[in-house]
Amino acid sequence: MRKIIIAGNWKLNKTSREAMSLVEELKREVLDIDGIDIVVCPPFTALDDVSEVVLDTNIALGAQNLYWQDSGAMTGEVSAPMLKDLGVQYVIIGHSERRQFFGDTNETVNKRIRAALTHALTPIVCIGENLPEREANKTFDVIRHQCEGSLANLTADEMKKIVLAYEPVWAIGTGKTATPQQAQEVHAFIRQLLGKLFNADVAQSVRIQYGGSVTPENIAALIAKPDIDGALVGGASLKAPSFAAIVKSAKK
Ligand code: 13P
Repeated sequence: MRKIIIAGNWKLNKTSREAMSLVEELKREVLDIDGIDIVVCPPFTALDDVSEVVLDTNIALGAQNLYWQDSGAMTGEVSAPMLKDLGVQYVIIGHSERRQFFGDTNETVNKRIRAALTHALTPIVCIGENLPEREANKTFDVIRHQCEGSLANLTADEMKKIVLAYEPVWAIGTGKTATPQQAQEVHAFIRQLLGKLFNADVAQSVRIQYGGSVTPENIAALIAKPDIDGALVGGASLKAPSFAAIVKSAKK
């Protein structure tokens, strides 16, 4: 059985003070929830403060990116040891916004994954097609290419430590969710691909989140699908009641 994982990607939102108050509220709302992984991914600047608030709770801390070197002359970057030092457990890698606006490629995603694994951070690796690609029926080709490139040279044991997030770019921040059927179709394809690239055990054990306009209203139908193991939530993770409602609904 794959454990459900619900993660909030706060993107470029919340000062430290705002982040602490959001997570204080969230902590109370999800106090009784167990058997599910709950993760919040604030911006770098709030990680230190939020890590204190989530200490000894059922909420884990994630970052939104990392650089692949541990240290050096790389102005503006943040490394895996720096994140570990703050109690970070997860790191989002290759989000479509990083691929689109900050030059991330399958090759750099692969380097970031390697750095995360070296330092025992759990990568949440994002893949997904954009609208022209979907309309041209290229979704599966795009996903295959992203998986082959991003997950290159990983062993089966390493792959088992990774969480994948299928985020169709056309569904991000648009209010336009993939239907549960559309999402399931791609999740099943990814699982089948993991079987080919690694082995059947990897295919069965890797968790695949769906991301793109997830809300308290649509999570239940998504999570009911056999290959959807959680959600990577943007907008709806910025308010404690809506993120908590997603967590609670996913738990059922
Ligand atoms: P929204 O939930 O705001 O569409 O964002 C999804 C996302 O990009 C999560 O990483």
